Amino acid sequence: MKLWGGRFQKATDAKVDDFNSSIRFDYKMYKQDIKGSIAHSKMLGKQGIISTEDSNLIVKTLEEILADIEAGKVEFLVDAEDIHMNIEKLLTDRIGDAGKRLHTARSRNDQVALDIRMYLMDEINEVKAMLISLENTLINLAKNNLDTVMPGYTHLQKAQPITLAHHIMAYVEMFLRDIDRLADCRKRTDSMPLGSGALATSTYPIDREFVANLLGFSGVTRNSLDGVADRDFAIELASALSIIMMHLSRFSEELILWNTNEFSFVEMDDSYSTGSSIMPQKKNPDVAELIRGKTGRVYGNLMGLLTIMKGLPLAYNKDMQEDKEAIFDAVDTVKLCVPVFEGMVSSMKINSDKMRCGASGGFTNATDGADYLVKKGMPFRDAHAVIGKLVFYAISQDKSLEELSLEEFRRFSDMFDHDVYEAISVETCVSCRNVIGGPAKEAMEKTIVSAEEKLSELCR
Ligand code: ARG
Repeated sequence: MKLWGGRFQKATDAKVDDFNSSIRFDYKMYKQDIKGSIAHSKMLGKQGIISTEDSNLIVKTLEEILADIEAGKVEFLVDAEDIHMNIEKLLTDRIGDAGKRLHTARSRNDQVALDIRMYLMDEINEVKAMLISLENTLINLAKNNLDTVMPGYTHLQKAQPITLAHHIMAYVEMFLRDIDRLADCRKRTDSMPLGSGALATSTYPIDREFVANLLGFSGVTRNSLDGVADRDFAIELASALSIIMMHLSRFSEELILWNTNEFSFVEMDDSYSTGSSIMPQKKNPDVAELIRGKTGRVYGNLMGLLTIMKGLPLAYNKDMQEDKEAIFDAVDTVKLCVPVFEGMVSSMKINSDKMRCGASGGFTNATDGADYLVKKGMPFRDAHAVIGKLVFYAISQDKSLEELSLEEFRRFSDMFDHDVYEAISVETCVSCRNVIGGPAKEAMEKTIVSAEEKLSELCR
């Protein structure tokens, strides 16, 4: 008979058993479920709701069950529906009546809310640690490429010279915010819902704060309906995870481009590339492409969660069982992608000559040419127009700006002098942008220091 079978005259249809059961995916929360039950049982014993002997026996047996699960000795049953009832059944099979007392003053509604919060808090810690490791790798890469000049782009058209360090540190900033978002979302997940009961708490003299304390929560949920009915913390996490994937995906897209024969800015290591079954010459950036592709499933999970929740009346509804596969998959996907992305980036070869070469083509120094004239006293708008005409002329001559003779420069303005060549060299273009956030080596070194400070703050 089902744990809840008392009022039923007929067994559930086998199709319904299978349909209703969530053990296929919520088994992942076995550790949190057992920890939560241990804390609940200790509380019941302390409050005299069950005897100390029963409480002690429950705790001891749950610990044994946990060890057995970890040793692979336990088989979960679809018939027992979900992880909560599977564990309770295992317990009752082992200790009889004492086991049947565990569910006093508790509902699966607050139990599942507790388990999923605990599970996600643990997962957030893991994702954070992975991102911190990625950040350290990226910062090191930036430190080694402070002088690696490359073209910066807008509209994927060459714009102004920057350095590889500058480009990489842009992503370091994004991932810093991602870590911050995870920590922030964890704060709101960190609220203990057990004691909410099915929806309206309990008639027993339970001590919710004691349970929260045992489980390491900072506080308890303040409204029992809210405690069992909302999954906003999971949606927030799915959103933070989607943003992480969006950042990984953009970076991957750039690396795919940079790894093309046309760009050749980087070359993926053999160990992070794959071949083609028909074209012998191929070496494809599958890892980066797959990360870009997997971004779609994380976004899908976010949309799924939002949609599951949008029409649900308070409090618990079975629809909410659908939250788990979505949020678990989002977490698992990010945990799969971050380390492989880190390995790919740290093993790829950087072709600084190609980057340097790319930076000097495409008139990336045109703005600096205009700024040169401004410093000589010309209004910026006029300088913009003069350089625009010069660029048009240089294109017709198939030359870059720095390849024009001074005589040619002077045809467009008599303000040009010998010092123009120095002013528009790519090195000057970079080193002159020595303001907070800029690509100049000195500015970049300061940015790196403050990013490192922020990172160690977030590690605490
Ligand atoms: N497996 C369920 C879930 O994941 C547990 C809660 C069931 N509660 C209920 N009233 N049927 O949501």
